[in-house]
Amino acid sequence: MKKLNVGLIGYGFMGRAHSNAYLTVSQFFDLNYQPVLKAVAARDPDKVKQFAHKWGYESHYSDWRKLIEDPLVELVDIASPNDTHAEIAIAALEAGKMVLCEKPLARNLAEAQRMVDAAKKAGTRTMVWYNYRRIPAVTLAKQIVGSGKIGRIFHYRAKFLQDWTISAAVPQGGAALWRLDVDVAGSGVTGDLLAHCIDTAIWLNGELESVSAMTETFIKERPHQLTGKMTDVGIDDASAFLGRFKNGSLATFEATRYARGHKALYTLEINGEHGSIAWDLHDLHRLQWFDHKDEGAMRGWRSIHVTDGDHPYMANWWVPGLSIGYEHSFIHQVADFVNSLDEKTPAEPTFESALETEKVVDAVLRSASSKKWENV
Ligand SMILES: NC(=O)c1ccc[n+]([C@@H]2O[C@H](COP(=O)([O-])OP(=O)(O)OC[C@H]3O[C@@H](n4cnc5c(N)ncnc54)[C@H](O)[C@@H]3O)[C@@H](O)[C@H]2O)c1
Repeated sequence: MKKLNVGLIGYGFMGRAHSNAYLTVSQFFDLNYQPVLKAVAARDPDKVKQFAHKWGYESHYSDWRKLIEDPLVELVDIASPNDTHAEIAIAALEAGKMVLCEKPLARNLAEAQRMVDAAKKAGTRTMVWYNYRRIPAVTLAKQIVGSGKIGRIFHYRAKFLQDWTISAAVPQGGAALWRLDVDVAGSGVTGDLLAHCIDTAIWLNGELESVSAMTETFIKERPHQLTGKMTDVGIDDASAFLGRFKNGSLATFEATRYARGHKALYTLEINGEHGSIAWDLHDLHRLQWFDHKDEGAMRGWRSIHVTDGDHPYMANWWVPGLSIGYEHSFIHQVADFVNSLDEKTPAEPTFESALETEKVVDAVLRSASSKKWENV
């Protein structure tokens, strides 16, 4: 097996999810390349050393530029906050590296466009970690839509609900709370949570054409973790929009961090001419499917336990009936990326295709501010 030398930037939530994927993937998938944990970079020299030791990275840096300069690193994986994505990705692409980047691609459309331009110029492989595509039940939804069984699609609705920022005492900025600081995150739930819903929607149902959105910032001031000062909050705490897809179907989307009782409830539902599909992240190994072509008296929603060898990715795991989890979506994404290396078609979404999600995010934020329908 050939080696694929990985350099990871950021060792937080996603740094761990990606490291686990690189370490595990070749044990369960037959690949031509074995990911090697070559180097990791993050700002704190002691913490990055500890992380490298714990996960088995061969070297570590406290400046991501050094990791990019490392001639042994072939693939740069960006798992740091949104304000770092464009600068790191463009530098890595200019150095001729393959680049994987966490979502959202960037803080705003202009930054994302510069990343896409750099990727085109470099001609190296890119991919964005929209991992929900690789949850087997969601991939099965894609297969059902692709098979035509659902027929013409009329409605697409998605929600991503959390409740962790309701207290006004939660600070913004700094470790773990950079998502609440607009300068670092770019936007609030629109770029963070809705971006996932939008990516899956485009993948399953094609591009969106226009949107009409509203956003709200419920807590207007929060202490800043880095300065200790009360600072205006610039992110959207909640975001909802109506949309029209290019295929004529209608969309409703909602994301919030103020839905008490919901921790990470990503749900989607598609209603078509012959059937409907529903999925939710809290029950991620099940896909709900309604087939109007079933015999009348027996017609009803089926709950498909997506754990059989016939289901996407599942033949690589345990015996039928045994489920897998969130972390496996990252393992599947690495498997697809590695498998694409010898092929002409890249693993999706590339920087270029993920730009479409950035365009929708941009249109949603524009519409919330103009209070008018906006074209994507
Ligand atoms: N695909 C998903 O489902 C998913 C889930 C969570 C987060 N994310 C995305 O992943 C990225 C990271 O989020 P997270 O939750 O892992 O954040 P985190 O706060 O847990 O970790 C961020 C890491 O980046 C490091 N870092 C910060 N600034 C840096 C710099 N200038 N140079 C090098 N390292 C730096 C921090 O030290 C930390 O290790 C974000 O873009 C986020 O939107 C994606």
